[in-house]
Amino acid sequence: MEMSERFEGVYQINDSIATINLNPGIKVYGEKLIELEDTEYRLWDPRRSKLCAAIKNGQNIFPFKKESKILYLGASAGTTPSHISDIAYNGIVYCVEFSPRIMRDLMELCKHRKNMVPCLEDATQPPNYLSILEKVDIIYCDVAQPKQSELFMDNMHLYLKEDGYGIIIIKSRSIDVTKNPKKIFREEEGKLKRNGYRILEKINLYPYEKDHMAFLCQIDF
Ligand SMILES: C[S@@+](CC[C@H](N)C(=O)[O-])C[C@H]1O[C@@H](n2cnc3c(N)ncnc32)[C@H](O)[C@@H]1O
Repeated sequence: MEMSERFEGVYQINDSIATINLNPGIKVYGEKLIELEDTEYRLWDPRRSKLCAAIKNGQNIFPFKKESKILYLGASAGTTPSHISDIAYNGIVYCVEFSPRIMRDLMELCKHRKNMVPCLEDATQPPNYLSILEKVDIIYCDVAQPKQSELFMDNMHLYLKEDGYGIIIIKSRSIDVTKNPKKIFREEEGKLKRNGYRILEKINLYPYEKDHMAFLCQIDF
């Protein structure tokens, strides 16, 4: 088996991407576990996680580190947050999710992962969670909503450290099903730029996800 470290805490095992399981023996979404030299890795499925799809499609700048503090907007049941929690094992992942039904599964996962904090909150109202949160190194946004760029920027302005990074996954069909995805990506990129955002990378997630683009950016404070 061929293994190499692609980014800090992110491994390439043959053709697959993997992270080291922070909670050995336990799967989160049915992923495969692999034991190599006394370490347990969790294979990271690019069809289940858009961050893994971005890595597979050539993401070059990967800001997550072992001590990173992350605000994750749209955590759902924790598929991608769990891999980020593996990478940032000495950091913290604040998981914002507004669906009480999904939050039940997320809370179960967070019980077994010391660095994941569940927050039952609406990401369109960032001041509401000021008392729970601190400034973070990275904001990751995957809410699949029409106003996703706006809520991403509102959270960035309130919670991002000066040299921090933002990653937003734009799903064009959540914004307008009738419009050409390329036009939507251009419009959303324009919004970010007009608001002082520097786009460092743009990664189309095809073929893992159709009509999705990941933008990695920083704010010119
Ligand atoms: C595409 S799923 C996220 C999948 C997840 N990022 C992953 O990779 O494991 C989008 C999630 O965002 C949540 N969501 C949508 N709008 C939200 C909002 N305003 N505040 C908080 N969560 C929201 C939805 O309930 C849903 O669980």
